[in-house]
Amino acid sequence: MAQIRIGFIGLSTTGWAAIALFPSLQVPSVRSSYVVTALCTSSAASASTAAEHYGRETGRPIKAYYGDDGISQIVQDPDVDLVVVSIKAPTHRGPVLAAIEAGKDVFVEWPAGSSLEETMEFQRQAKAKGVKVMVGLQGRHSAASKVVKGVIDSGRLGKVLSSTMVGFMPRESLYWGPTVNERRAYIHQPGSGVSFAEIILGHQLDTFTHILGDFATISAITATMYPTATVVGSESTLPPTIPAAYPDHIALSGMLTSGALVSIHYRAGYPSTPGRRGFLWEIDCENGSIRVEPATENGNLMNIYDMAVYVCGERIELEGSGLLAHLAATWLEYLKEKSGQGEGAYVTIEEAVKNRGLLEAIERSARDGKSVHL
Ligand SMILES: *[C@@H]1O[C@H](CO)[C@@H](O)[C@H](O)[C@H]1NC(C)=O
Repeated sequence: MAQIRIGFIGLSTTGWAAIALFPSLQVPSVRSSYVVTALCTSSAASASTAAEHYGRETGRPIKAYYGDDGISQIVQDPDVDLVVVSIKAPTHRGPVLAAIEAGKDVFVEWPAGSSLEETMEFQRQAKAKGVKVMVGLQGRHSAASKVVKGVIDSGRLGKVLSSTMVGFMPRESLYWGPTVNERRAYIHQPGSGVSFAEIILGHQLDTFTHILGDFATISAITATMYPTATVVGSESTLPPTIPAAYPDHIALSGMLTSGALVSIHYRAGYPSTPGRRGFLWEIDCENGSIRVEPATENGNLMNIYDMAVYVCGERIELEGSGLLAHLAATWLEYLKEKSGQGEGAYVTIEEAVKNRGLLEAIERSARDGKSVHL
């Protein structure tokens, strides 16, 4: 099969695309099947710097596009089969719809647009055009997720009766809480689509429901412990403090369609202090329990960090863990599908719509003080 040619929107020499997505295309099992033929960034200078840099790294010339015109050009480029979109969520819509319109398959980073409406629009347009849209919810591909799902699905511990997940995003990360990095201050704007709930909880929720099944009812309370954020950085033209548009604490409980009673509690903004836990997930089945916790001291997110899994108190040896492996799973699943081996198990836009729908139900429940039936 011919290599899949990628047009990469948002690939510069820094940021998530540079440190995670591009390297995931270079892991040995992926590298021979994919090639980046073009990229697009916001400015002519950053595009040519990036094209030169990655061209050197891959030993293949890469076309450099930039700005809004660049987006129309890269999606139309006959040397591009798959468009990868890794830019700020409030700007996903233009490139994703342009790529769909050009009849290209798309990979877009979670949250896939800045609202449930936009994610649904991507789904509708992709369906009308007959193209695939994959979404970057890689937590379910982690080694820990696969082991936990395997144990649950085997039924050997009996029925899942309850589960509790608790997670924490520390102040030092400079996202949500009393301090924010100047480059990320947009996350605090209303409608940014990148609230603490959408990004941090959203990633873990996808893994949670992928393994334990869907919610039947949900009830949530949210709080804003840090109503303003101090902007950290030397080039900021923003006011020194900005209001926080979104809650930094989310507590929810619900009943799954399986009948299990579950709770999830996510918090942001306190400093990391000795003994403060970044993540803990317990699943209690009738005849045994599963515990997932960070494998390293600072780990907190299942979609990024390696986790340790205990089944009935015994630590399970995990294979193939690591962020790049989680991300590479999407490319390998897509490849499987393209080479005619059935549907790839990447995260689809339909699943992203479902996850966003759940987040919307959480927001609605918290706002109205009522439980929501899904
Ligand atoms: C759970 O334990 C009970 C009581 O020992 C037993 O009857 C049942 O078969 C067990 N279920 C599974 C799935 O092993």
